[in-house]
Amino acid sequence: MKKPFLTLILFNLTFGLTLPTTSTRAEEKTRVTPSQVIDQLNQLSKMREGLASSLVGRSSQDPITADTFQKVCAPVGKALREWASSSGVHAQQLATRFRNPTNQAQGTDAKLIQAWEKDPSQLTAVFTSVRDGKPGMQIVQRIPVAEGCLQCHGEKSSRPDFIQKKYINDQAHSFRVGDLRGIFSVWIPDES
Ligand code: HEC
Repeated sequence: MKKPFLTLILFNLTFGLTLPTTSTRAEEKTRVTPSQVIDQLNQLSKMREGLASSLVGRSSQDPITADTFQKVCAPVGKALREWASSSGVHAQQLATRFRNPTNQAQGTDAKLIQAWEKDPSQLTAVFTSVRDGKPGMQIVQRIPVAEGCLQCHGEKSSRPDFIQKKYINDQAHSFRVGDLRGIFSVWIPDES
């Protein structure tokens, strides 16, 4: 089950990465390039890691509230949505251990996450993919856990109150630094 899937990813990765250099038609058809997408996702990850690291070492007199969250994962989600709609791409954050059920990874995404959990060297994959019957290119980027993330994605019992109350079926806890938190998954349609 796992092996053919990994082979598919590797094949698609090679295929996807060679397309722009071997075919000018493919370049014309793509609005944003995979490397522009990867740059954008790296910037979002850096932004979140910076925001999260500012929370490390907070005192118990200064608890993390819903208001604090507005400064960490909320702006990343918002920036991703805004960038996706202005760039004409489809973008999501996905996880198998998710907090918001709308971010639940399924099918191929869930299989990819399972494979990447076991292999920390996997950072990016680019492959051709079809969405709603339309051809396009998929870019997947790893989201690792940094120290600051543990303030809200660490031990279940030490999650901030607002998270315990708002996310009843939260599975995005008990992570450790370096774990795979989830993936960014971006789909660029081929220009028709
Ligand atoms: C201040 C609390 C807080 C911190 C710190 C925090 N997160 Fe989150 N994170 C949340 C909340 C709350 C959600 C659910 C957002 C929603 O409802 O869409 C979330 C959602 C996510 C998601 C979307 C998938 C899901 O499970 O719904 C990812 C990916 C994520 N966080 C990664 C990180 C990473 C990586 C870090 C550290 C660099 C981090 N978070 C730090 C509170 C936090």
